[in-house]
Amino acid sequence: MKVTVTQNYDEMSKAAYKIVQEVLKCQNPILGLATGSTPLGLYALISEACKKGDLSLKHVKSVNLDEYIGLPKGHKESYRYFMDTNLFDKTDIDKSSTYVPNGNAEDMQAECDRYNSLLNRMRQSVQILGIGGNGHIGFNEPGTPFSSVTHLVDLQERTRQDNARFFNSIDEVPRQAITMGISNIMNAERIVILASGKSKAEAVRAAAIGEVSEQCPASVLQKHPDAVLIVDEAAAELL
Ligand code: GLP
Repeated sequence: MKVTVTQNYDEMSKAAYKIVQEVLKCQNPILGLATGSTPLGLYALISEACKKGDLSLKHVKSVNLDEYIGLPKGHKESYRYFMDTNLFDKTDIDKSSTYVPNGNAEDMQAECDRYNSLLNRMRQSVQILGIGGNGHIGFNEPGTPFSSVTHLVDLQERTRQDNARFFNSIDEVPRQAITMGISNIMNAERIVILASGKSKAEAVRAAAIGEVSEQCPASVLQKHPDAVLIVDEAAAELL
């Protein structure tokens, strides 16, 4: 895995944007997208460029990593809402070409199977990732088999606490999510993993130079032929 250390968050976002720009030049680009605060700077750069007419997403399809289970449609913390408001609605992307797992499906196993076959038909030209404080990618918590495909997960307490800042209280944070599996992520042609801030330093260390182990899901990226970790100085502190 290649590691790029940038001075700060803005530079991290710019470095990721450059890669996205390059990928968008390919014939039928498929963007694998992530939620969380980390990719917001990248999404702002994409939105800005679309607004100026420097970039178009008309020919682009996207697949998202994950979604909470059970949040009502249109809930402000659902990942579909996050993607619509932070990226899709600010660009010219055809919304019917944007895919996020359905966290309200009646039959969750059928939804996992549906999303998985979608991913088998739509290989990500690039997969954007953030990293959880415990090394999770998507919602693949420590201990998830590297061979996993789209599945339902019980969120770990640390993850619920980390994400509680977006909700009124921890009780409102969903206990389950649907996520692409690790093998779906590893299937991407390219992977860009972003991290910013001191709170990610230990997860970044384990992912980049720790033992490749299912205990740190992000460490699997060391085995990907074209993965780049772009981190700011604070997140790179332990490298
Ligand atoms: C959530 C998401 C992950 C994301 C992580 C880190 O758990 N499912 O995809 O990478 O949070 O979020 P943040 O970027 O806000 O630190």
